[in-house]
Amino acid sequence: MISNTINEILNEQINKEFYSGYLYLSMSAHLKELGLNGFASWTRLQAKEEVEHGLKIFDYLIDCNSFVTLKQIRTPEFEFNGISSIFNHIYEHEKCITRSIMEIAKKAEEECDRTTLNFIDWFIAEQIEEEEAVKNIIKRLDMFGDDKVALYLMDQELARRGKE
Ligand code: FEO
Repeated sequence: MISNTINEILNEQINKEFYSGYLYLSMSAHLKELGLNGFASWTRLQAKEEVEHGLKIFDYLIDCNSFVTLKQIRTPEFEFNGISSIFNHIYEHEKCITRSIMEIAKKAEEECDRTTLNFIDWFIAEQIEEEEAVKNIIKRLDMFGDDKVALYLMDQELARRGKE
């Protein structure tokens, strides 16, 4: 049912989702070292979500009687030049993931693969949400600049993710 092209691109996407998990987790460790526990907790939760995204594709391939090929996950790379640099990096990364998801949709459309098109819709909606959430954090970081009290309050707010 799933073509080799779709199989390959979905397996690549599993790798990208797991890489995203690695990236968020390494950021989380760094933020924790800095004492920004709320930001660290937010990125750690995001890492968990990314692994779930990868597993969702993993399960889809198995359900479709297709093959799963797990490839090496590269070492996450990011430069820390302040908290804004981390969230700008995340935003660029998520835009890249969105393009990758859109490419899957495009390929599935070319092949009239309705099942994969239907499956990938969830990821398209998820990407809109993720980009929006990160953009909102960046906007506020830009607005507060170097105000340490505002940063502290934001850290407290982000710590509440997943606890409400
Ligand atoms: Fe699974 Fe953040 O994309």
